[in-house]
Amino acid sequence: MSELSVKHLLGIKYLKETDIQLIFETANHFKEVINRSIKKVPSLRDITIANIFFENSTRTKLSFELAEKRLSADVLNFSASQSSVKKGETLIDTVNNILSMKVDMVVMRHPNPGAGIFLSKHVNASIVNAGDGAHEHPTQALLDSYSIRERLGDVAGKNVVIVGDILHSRVALSNIFALKLQGANVKVCGPKTLLPKHIESLGVGVETNLRKALEWCDVANMLRIQNERLDISYFPTTREYTQQFGVNKKLLDSLDKEIVIMHPGPINRGVEITSDVADSKQSIILNQVENGVAIRMAVIYLLASKIK
Ligand code: CP
Repeated sequence: MSELSVKHLLGIKYLKETDIQLIFETANHFKEVINRSIKKVPSLRDITIANIFFENSTRTKLSFELAEKRLSADVLNFSASQSSVKKGETLIDTVNNILSMKVDMVVMRHPNPGAGIFLSKHVNASIVNAGDGAHEHPTQALLDSYSIRERLGDVAGKNVVIVGDILHSRVALSNIFALKLQGANVKVCGPKTLLPKHIESLGVGVETNLRKALEWCDVANMLRIQNERLDISYFPTTREYTQQFGVNKKLLDSLDKEIVIMHPGPINRGVEITSDVADSKQSIILNQVENGVAIRMAVIYLLASKIK
C-alpha cells in the first residue's frame, strides 16, 4: 500500500492495520532524515498547515510544529486563549477564516470529544486530531507503538498493560485500538472507579492489582492522573493512589523480568511513577518524544499527498 485509506487522521478507530504499517515505514525514512546534519527535506514546500490548540500542550504542539518545519511546510500557530474565540467566534467560523488564507491542513487539539470529526464534516481541509478531550490521541498511540516496536522488535504478541486513569484518557483509547490492530495483548489496570464500564468489549483484559499486571506484561504504559478532568474524587487520596498504582524501582526490581516503561507525559513524578523509574534504562519515555517527530512527519506527509 502506498497511500493512506483516510483523508483525515481523526482517530486510530478509522485506520486499517496497513495504514499503521505505511506510517511506520514512512517514519523510518524520516527518522533517518532528522538524524542527519541537515534535518530538513523540501517535500511540503507548497503546503500550509495551521496548528490550532484550544488546550494546553508541550510535546504534541512542539512536535507537530517541528515535523511540519522539517518537511518545509509553511506553519501558522493559533492559540485559542489569544484569539477571537474569546469574543464568541464559533469553531467553524474560526477555522474557515484561517482556511481562507490558503491553508491546506489543520492540526487541532480541543477539549471536546469528537471536535475533529465535527470539523472534518464542515470545512474543506485535511484535519489531524492532536487530542480531543477524553476521546482519541491518534499520533500519541502511533508513536507509542512505534517505540515499542523499536525496543522489542515487534508489537504483535506483546503483552501491554495501560495503568491509571483509563476513564478520562484519550491516550488509553487510541493505544487500545492501535495495539489490538497490530496483534498485541492488552490489559488495563487502575482503580475500579477509573476503569470504564464494559471496557472488556474492546478486547482488553482488566486487572486491579498492579503487581499482577506487571508480572504479566512486557510493557507498562503509565498514565497521568488528569486532575483537570476529574470533577469528583475517584480515589481517597493521591498518596493512596500511589501506594496501589504507582511504579517504583523496588517494585520493578522484585519482578523476575525487566519490563519496558512508557509514559505519554507530562509526568507527575512521585505519583504514577518515581524519578528512579522514569529516568532508568527500562524507561523509553524520551524515545517516545523523539519518535513523535518522525511519526508526525509521516502522518502529515502521507495526508498531504492526498490533497495535492
Ligand atoms: N503526550 C501529550 O499529549 O503531551 P502534551 O499534552 O504536552 O502535548
